[in-house]
Amino acid sequence: MTQPVVPDRNLALELVRTTEAAAMASSRWMGRGDKISADQAAVDAMRSVLAGVDMQGTVVIGEGEKDEAPMLYNGESVGTGSGPAADIAVDPIDGTTLTANGLSGAIAVIAAAEAGSMFDPGPAVYMEKIAVGPSGAGIVDIRLPVEKNLRALAKAKDQAVADLNVMVLNRPRHEELVARVRKAGARITLIPDGDVAGAIATAWPESGVDILLGIGGTPEGVITAAALKCMGGDLQGRLWMRNDEDRAAVLEAGIDPDKIIGLNDLVASDDCFFAATGISSGSLLRGVRYSSGRIETQSLVMRGRSGTVRLINGTHRATKLKDLYG
Ligand code: FBP
Repeated sequence: MTQPVVPDRNLALELVRTTEAAAMASSRWMGRGDKISADQAAVDAMRSVLAGVDMQGTVVIGEGEKDEAPMLYNGESVGTGSGPAADIAVDPIDGTTLTANGLSGAIAVIAAAEAGSMFDPGPAVYMEKIAVGPSGAGIVDIRLPVEKNLRALAKAKDQAVADLNVMVLNRPRHEELVARVRKAGARITLIPDGDVAGAIATAWPESGVDILLGIGGTPEGVITAAALKCMGGDLQGRLWMRNDEDRAAVLEAGIDPDKIIGLNDLVASDDCFFAATGISSGSLLRGVRYSSGRIETQSLVMRGRSGTVRLINGTHRATKLKDLYG
């Protein structure tokens, strides 16, 4: 008889404290028109909680190079230094402008994966993305025309193209894409920012989002891939060059600029973890709310090997947190 396997540690259940902390800290800056301070508050809070997590983490996707980002910079060691070695991707706020303007859809995000398994985008700033939930995995293909992908996805979902809700970042570079999606007859949600939440929403039935299309940040693509891996969705990407300099920098870094990048290229290991907490309410998560003495958070916590996805509502006691952490 085979012995039952004892469930091992779910790092995401500890990492969610870092996104809760980042969300609570940055939500104090909601609508105050200061995205730098909002981001700083999120970075400080995430970093201080991360310091207590037992792991030997290395930031692969961080706030940038050390000279411009003194904290959570690419290459920084995080965690207590004991425990498993892990690649870490952080986005203390995905949607800094959303937070500063009090708009919906800002989240605090972190992902972890077995050491050496996360794609390092280096100078590759932008990536064309197609993200879908489990019903679209193996159905859509970034190499195909958008109309074909919409038809295939609608068929797989037993829906009409007209039923689909396509999420797209509202950018001039998406003018043609938006026109084609409209012509195909699908519905569109144009978002001002935040394609991490937008992509993950495709795998979260309550969101009502079916597919995310368009060009967004490459680092954001890596973080998103960790979540979609856990949820059984799919993300395919193709690097997008703004100019010849972008192309030269990517080539110089040894990255093939024309390669189709799949979920397993972005995060190679199934041993991955993801946590996100809402800062402002959006299609994926409810934002931080305050009531007398209490702070409410809502988070998603996921693990790749088990495929477990948890929605966690947290109630934090403002005075007790202050007593504990000052
Ligand atoms: P920030 O919170 O770092 O500003 O990122 C928001 C975001 O909308 C991402 O979700 C997205 O991937 C990227 O910016 C798109 O980049 P750009 O605003 O340059 O089009």
